[in-house]
Amino acid sequence: MTGKKYVKVEEGEIRRVIISRPEALNALNREVLEELREVFSSPPEDFHVVILTGEGKAFVAGADIGEMGDMGPGEAYNFSREGQKVFSLIEEYPYPVIAAINGYALGGGLELAMACDIRLASERAKLGQPEVNLGVIPGFGGTQRLPRIVGMGRALELLYTGKMINAEEALSIGLVNGVYPAEELLKRAEEMAEEILKKGPLAIKSIKWVVRGGLQMPLEKALQFEALAFSKIFSSEDQKEGMQAFLEKRKPEFRGR
Ligand code: CAA
Repeated sequence: MTGKKYVKVEEGEIRRVIISRPEALNALNREVLEELREVFSSPPEDFHVVILTGEGKAFVAGADIGEMGDMGPGEAYNFSREGQKVFSLIEEYPYPVIAAINGYALGGGLELAMACDIRLASERAKLGQPEVNLGVIPGFGGTQRLPRIVGMGRALELLYTGKMINAEEALSIGLVNGVYPAEELLKRAEEMAEEILKKGPLAIKSIKWVVRGGLQMPLEKALQFEALAFSKIFSSEDQKEGMQAFLEKRKPEFRGR
């Protein structure tokens, strides 16, 4: 396990990233954000899956309220843009990122989870955008990613009321993909990562690129984008191996090239 003060990293085929500031429920101060920026701006070259989680009873309980209290509009703008950029790095990270939501995912914490590709939650998780309780709005992407994930009506309800929902409710609106007993959460996230690791690495990377990129485009452009990515993969060894293995009734051995 390597790491800085607040973000621990265990490298490997499963790259574990643990936010570790439990005394403040892993609240995102500038240092935590900076450490996350470093972790997600320098991905190892070998194909891997990231599992992002929090230490203790929280995933992340939001941006650090202590740090925000005295901010003026200029500072608040910069803080918002800085957080947004860090979370965009996760969205643009070239490998899959799974959020294992072990507890509170509130405000900036839910926004962080929403920048990940897949969200799995412990039965103990509590999720919400409570910014209105503080007289402010989400600033790390919540007003934009939440409606894109759960639809506008459900997003506005969560944003207007600032209420916390439990993991089962989050599952019912598609905010998380699965809910597990607390002690099983990491194991289940690892099983999902292992499943992904068996597939063609080029295909997985391409899927993330095409899905994320295509959602920013009008449909016809996005379909062209898909066709280009589809054609590109036909120049890879993985495509030949995957199809050959099927025809020979054996398991493929993908090499990521
Ligand atoms: N920022 C700074 N410190 C925080 C924090 C936060 N977001 N959330 C919790 N903490 C700190 C508490 O101040 C407390 O510190 P002390 O022990 O020094 O008093 C410690 O973490 C433990 O918290 P609690 O004693 O409050 O724990 P609890 O179990 O009683 O309550 C909780 C848990 C319901 C999550 C409660 O801590 C809470 O409501 N936290 C704030 C949640 C929130 O409003 N998040 C949104 C922040 S705004 C934001 O994120 C804006 C944005 O989009 C960029």
